[in-house]
Amino acid sequence: MCGIVGVLGTQPAAPVILDALKRLEYRGYDSAGIATLVNGGIDRRRAVGKLTALDAVLQANPLGGTAGIGHTRWATHGPASENNAHPHVTDKVALVHNGIIENFRELRAELEADGVTFTSETDTEIVAHLITQAMKAGASAVDAASQTLSRLEGAFALCILFHGEEDLMIGARKGSPLAIGYGNGEMYLGSDAFALAPMTNRVAFLEEGDWTVVQRGGVTIYDAQGKEVERPVKITDASAALVGKGNHRHFMAKEIFEQPEVIGHTLTEYIDTMDNRLALPSLPVDFSTLSRVTIVACGTASYAGHVAKYWFEQLARLPVEIDIASEFRYREAPMPANGLAVFVSQSGETADTLAALRYCREQGQKILSIVNVTESSIARESDAIVPTYAGPEIGVASTKAFTCQLTVLALLALEAAKARGHLNKAEERLSVRRLMEVPRLMSDVLAHDDLIQAIAHNLSKARDVLYLGRGPMYPMALEGALKLKEISYIHAEGYAAGELKHGPVALVDENVPVVVIAPSTVLFDKTVSNMQVVMARGGRVILISDKKGIGAAGKDAVAVIEVPECDRLTAPLIYSLPVQLLAYHTALAKGTDVDQPRNLAKSVTVE
Ligand code: F6R
Repeated sequence: MCGIVGVLGTQPAAPVILDALKRLEYRGYDSAGIATLVNGGIDRRRAVGKLTALDAVLQANPLGGTAGIGHTRWATHGPASENNAHPHVTDKVALVHNGIIENFRELRAELEADGVTFTSETDTEIVAHLITQAMKAGASAVDAASQTLSRLEGAFALCILFHGEEDLMIGARKGSPLAIGYGNGEMYLGSDAFALAPMTNRVAFLEEGDWTVVQRGGVTIYDAQGKEVERPVKITDASAALVGKGNHRHFMAKEIFEQPEVIGHTLTEYIDTMDNRLALPSLPVDFSTLSRVTIVACGTASYAGHVAKYWFEQLARLPVEIDIASEFRYREAPMPANGLAVFVSQSGETADTLAALRYCREQGQKILSIVNVTESSIARESDAIVPTYAGPEIGVASTKAFTCQLTVLALLALEAAKARGHLNKAEERLSVRRLMEVPRLMSDVLAHDDLIQAIAHNLSKARDVLYLGRGPMYPMALEGALKLKEISYIHAEGYAAGELKHGPVALVDENVPVVVIAPSTVLFDKTVSNMQVVMARGGRVILISDKKGIGAAGKDAVAVIEVPECDRLTAPLIYSLPVQLLAYHTALAKGTDVDQPRNLAKSVTVE
């Protein structure tokens, strides 16, 4: 959602903070700000828009000081304006916040009744005033922060500096992540280890409810009960280079082209490559007796879960329910005895997914999560995690995290099939070999980049686009439409191809391109029939299929994208790539902001 960083350093803090904010900008980019202590006094710069705007403000009017905090915002309470941008300051404190203070209305009313004047519409500002009031009533900085934290409900990570306290910074974590970085005579706080990567690789992660008193010489950490605790300092392999664009114009392009590599990496974590056997870690679940799997996630991650439903049901004969987390969490769904709930999340911080996880735990389900961030809240609250090894995903539109999620889900479905007696040793070896071919097949698809770019040029002129698919290609159609709309702002809808005739076909005319995703597997002929219906009404079909499929049905399409032949297990992985490239190049042709599309944020820690 938002990104926060804090520095108690020995060199000028503002440039270090600005640089760290650049690595956090994926979390929000509608406004930003930095506050530092200059001779004990709080000084602040803020700007609406991306970090370049703050950079310009700082160049015109630099900030001194070696202690400072910074913030990059994705607006929740109050629009993106300079007044609402963090840090929020009083004459006693400056603070930055990621998350939502749920009881801010009551607290604001209480403060206003006491005569406090607010300068922003944010939920955050109440925290600054509560601490200030406690200090004015005689509490020390640390006590004032501690008293205030105990009054806050909701999800937050906070980083606080105090007037006149050059060697003090307080951090707190409840629901939103916060890492402590250990430097040489310097200390840092940040929303993730990547923000801190150039400064230090020695990082400790606060646990839920922890808060910390940071000084240049070290830290003291308290848990939610106020007991002093130790949190392990880990050497992270987070590297600032991992969050660079390499030779690509955009993070999204880099992440699309990285897929052969990261899928290979994820596979080798879970496969015995010598023997072509599954080698997943032992999981606290017996697939052979399981009654049902419930998969819950949001957005793109939910489409990965939707694809997996087909795999679990077809390969393992295991019933699966899939729902989006924002609906599931309030549905009061009855859950079966001996059920497994699977949560899919790149960030591991998505608020709705986390709430759904907690509901499933109350309902006695075993909790398994597929996350890309192993220190995330979802990871920590699960009985077991099966990490994806996508590396940091910075482009707001998910690409490589999605295919890594698919990879892990495919392996789990095979594991379930094996445990339930539907996959013998020879079939296991064959399936594993097929999966191991995916990185190579993906590279073949990426070689069609120029052709897809040309097709996207025409697509960029459309106002509406439909995506059609059957079976696992139905969620792929949903994903294709989501990807296109989120980065090109073209209206797009995905449909199950068979559903077309029940309404959406009314939309079809010569102005509506229809992307048909149809590998030449069992459902090919059925999808082609639906495609004929589109073409008979003047619809312009872009067919994504293999050689056989294109040979059989490609001649009437306005454009075809050929992908290698694959089976039902590997097709969703391979077909993801043309769908992603089509969206990427369409957005490029339209000139939109591919990595940071309007109104979106990478990690959605609010409902
Ligand atoms: C779309 C996209 C989002 C996320 C969704 C869930 O490209 O990235 O739809 O998939 O916000 O996020 P995570 O996976 O972090 O829970």
